[in-house]
Amino acid sequence: MTPPRAAPCVLVTGGLGYIGSHTVVALAGHGYRVVVVDDLSNSSIDVLAPVEALCGTSVATYCGDVRDREFLATVLGRNPVACAVHFAGLKAVGDSVRMPLEYYDVNVNGTLTLARALEAAGVRRVVFSSSATVYGDPAVAPTPETHPLAPANPYGRSKRDAEELLADLCASDPRWGAISLRYFNPAGAHPSGTIGERPQGVPNNLVPYIAQVANGERPALRVFGDDYPTPDGTGVRDYVHVMDLASAHVAAVARMLSRPGNEVINLGSGRGYSVLEVIRAYEHANDVRVPYEIVPRRSGDVPRYLADATLAGQLLDWRATRGIDEMCRDAARFQRMHVQRAPRPARTPASSPNRALSPAS
Ligand code: NAD
Ligand code: UFG
Repeated sequence: MTPPRAAPCVLVTGGLGYIGSHTVVALAGHGYRVVVVDDLSNSSIDVLAPVEALCGTSVATYCGDVRDREFLATVLGRNPVACAVHFAGLKAVGDSVRMPLEYYDVNVNGTLTLARALEAAGVRRVVFSSSATVYGDPAVAPTPETHPLAPANPYGRSKRDAEELLADLCASDPRWGAISLRYFNPAGAHPSGTIGERPQGVPNNLVPYIAQVANGERPALRVFGDDYPTPDGTGVRDYVHVMDLASAHVAAVARMLSRPGNEVINLGSGRGYSVLEVIRAYEHANDVRVPYEIVPRRSGDVPRYLADATLAGQLLDWRATRGIDEMCRDAARFQRMHVQRAPRPARTPASSPNRALSPAS
């Protein structure tokens, strides 16, 4: 189904990545025209075909870097963008400790460059991908948006800085609107199994790691610590289905298009699961075994993250509707459909950073 020509146009940076690809599909399903910008540094152009199949229409996609202002100006000049959803960024906590300059450059400078390009184009609405990591080790769980921010690593600090940049921008000009969405722990995949999370190399995150172990691609999961002050001693997280996250972005875009101002909103279910509970849920949902061993704590981990998602209900009329079983089933389906694929190239060739992969319509 092709959305009507008058449908608002949304620029999605990082639209071929994990959460971005699901959001592109959800936006198209709600009649938005979507334009994607992605430098393919952590995704593949192979994602575009299943995204377009799920959208039922072509998606104008531009390969380039959000830190390249001229490139963004070209994209914005060719498309009548009404709002941007800014996913493009780096997200590995450990890498951020080793490469802080890269993290501040992509996550903060990338947001700054995008904001400047949007300002120049007169597009003053942005939905931003932030993270529960900005809370550091929260003193209160469930954690509300008003909790003090104390990010414990460069990744978290870069997200906090980008949030503050957008808040300052909104305070400086009443025409600007920004919603920073603080995701708790995204998991799962599209129920078709055609798009999902494809980590490069060894997965950092729990559910993709479990999926590879269950599929026989890795021998066992290492459970990082069983001596946390939680019911079974393993880390507790608030897992949220990526399809629910995608719906929240659709609601945030609609809100952005209707009003300016700065808002920060948690996205989680308010329900926590320990590592051992996730393992059992995965085993039960997929009738598989997930061998594991307990190893020492991972540096930088906190005992518990749990969202107070009241504000998301109030402002976006959103709540998480899919539970851990559905996340495990959908993650497993995607894993089965994507095992034994050839490894993807790590980065876009430097010689063609701004290649338009499909012309703007
Ligand atoms: P992802 O790596 O799958 O997606 C990010 C996309 O952005 C990729 O397609 C990548 O190629 C692209 N990209 C990276 N740098 C770019 C640049 N300079 N210019 C253009 N494109 C660029 O990650 P994701 O899990 O989909 O996360 C999306 C956003 O949500 C990120 O900003 C991340 O920090 C944030 N977030 C993710 C999680 C999580 O656990 N997945 C949790 C909280 C917040
Ligand atoms: N875990 C294991 N073994 C693994 C991987 C993870 O035991 O192989 C444990 C962790 O110790 C933690 C839980 O599983 O207790 C969840 O770990 P993840 O790595 O999946 O998620 P994190 O909570 O550490 O971080 C994730 C994203 C961040 C994001 C944060 C927001 O990676 O980018 O959620 O809550 F900011």
